[in-house]
Amino acid sequence: MFPDRVLSGMRPTGRLHLGHYHGALKNWAKLQHEHPCYFFVADWHALTTHYETPDVIEQYTYDTVIDWIAAGVDPSQATMFVQSKVPQHAELTLLLSFFTPISWLERVPTYKDQVEKQAQFGRDLATYGFLGYPLMQAADILIYRANLVPVGEDQVSHIELTREIARRFNHLFGREKGFEEKAEAAIKKLGSKKAKRYNELRTQYQQEGNAEALEIAHELLSDVQNLSMGDRERLFGFLEGGGKVILPEPQALLTETSRLVGIDGEKMSKSYGNTIDLRESEEGVTKKIRTMPTDPARIRRTDPGDPEKCSVWTLHQVYSDQTTRDWVMQGCKTAGIGCLECKQPVIDGIIKELKPMRERAAPFEEDPTLVKNIIADGCEKARDTAEETMRDVRDAMGLNYR
Ligand code: TRP
Ligand code: SF4
Repeated sequence: MFPDRVLSGMRPTGRLHLGHYHGALKNWAKLQHEHPCYFFVADWHALTTHYETPDVIEQYTYDTVIDWIAAGVDPSQATMFVQSKVPQHAELTLLLSFFTPISWLERVPTYKDQVEKQAQFGRDLATYGFLGYPLMQAADILIYRANLVPVGEDQVSHIELTREIARRFNHLFGREKGFEEKAEAAIKKLGSKKAKRYNELRTQYQQEGNAEALEIAHELLSDVQNLSMGDRERLFGFLEGGGKVILPEPQALLTETSRLVGIDGEKMSKSYGNTIDLRESEEGVTKKIRTMPTDPARIRRTDPGDPEKCSVWTLHQVYSDQTTRDWVMQGCKTAGIGCLECKQPVIDGIIKELKPMRERAAPFEEDPTLVKNIIADGCEKARDTAEETMRDVRDAMGLNYR
């Protein structure tokens, strides 16, 4: 009903690293050629947890966008913007909050965990804003009517909540006077053959819960050319028994995370201080990989090892071809190669991957107005799109008077 649209966001946490690249950005750079994409810096989300350190937000925001560009996200393909510069996000968050049960937010799996965990570090997250974190995320997504949201496994419960909120919104506010009659009239406009098929599929879905019938009906409607936007929304809504679909339910696009290890063998993460940053120098990469721990059984050069017990091996799986991997397997188990020798192809692979990134970032590091301009353009476009949705939302919620 609505065209495909991709949306995703990241909190500004400073320089991005290889974990971000393999876990998200590489996929973003691919998606931008397949669908219209909106990528934003979630600075308000950052403030829900880091409200005591507002001084770093601005720099972290620029660093984040520069790193996206470095990683190949192209400002001429994708819209990049900053959440707090599109105040419609706040307005929608507020409007959604009126009908979102507190229990829905309290039962988001990470909520209680995080409040307790962060309290140990002296951070008080027993706040209204932090409870509303996933609600604000729902607004981020719904305000662009994005149907595709590339995220990692940890965000799936937030997308699920977003779907529930959209469903509740449509149920509460998608009912217009004379909806049934208008829907019936819209069915007639399909022409007799398609109208008959539509009714069959609707019955199959509503009486038997046949999800495939629903999907086929969606396809059927997508192929019809001569419908107004309003009729289209009615027919989509009528299929499922509700009213108009004003806010479509999004879907998580799970990024299969080749979970990258950091230089200590743990998951790569800024909080562990074990990252290789996207703008890391060649010397930095070399030094970090050279000091990486290997299979503890290889104390001396002559001790054989086992790649399965070595985190360098997981990097070979990302950066090396089959021939090199065979060479590692064989050489490690027979003590035929030393660990430094084994690490060299990984070092070469990372350096090769990062070189074009540093080059793309360079002009933006030299002249910060370049990145500010890209953000300003992106924000303008995002505001236009967000405002379109807000007009329908205000309309539906009885707020279109002056
Ligand atoms: N919560 C997400 C994270 O921590 C960031 C985020 C905020 C987001 N709003 C979003 C991701 C909307 C996708 C869509 O990674
Ligand atoms: Fe790890 Fe390679 Fe050393 Fe084997 S040879 S322990 S795989 S670094």
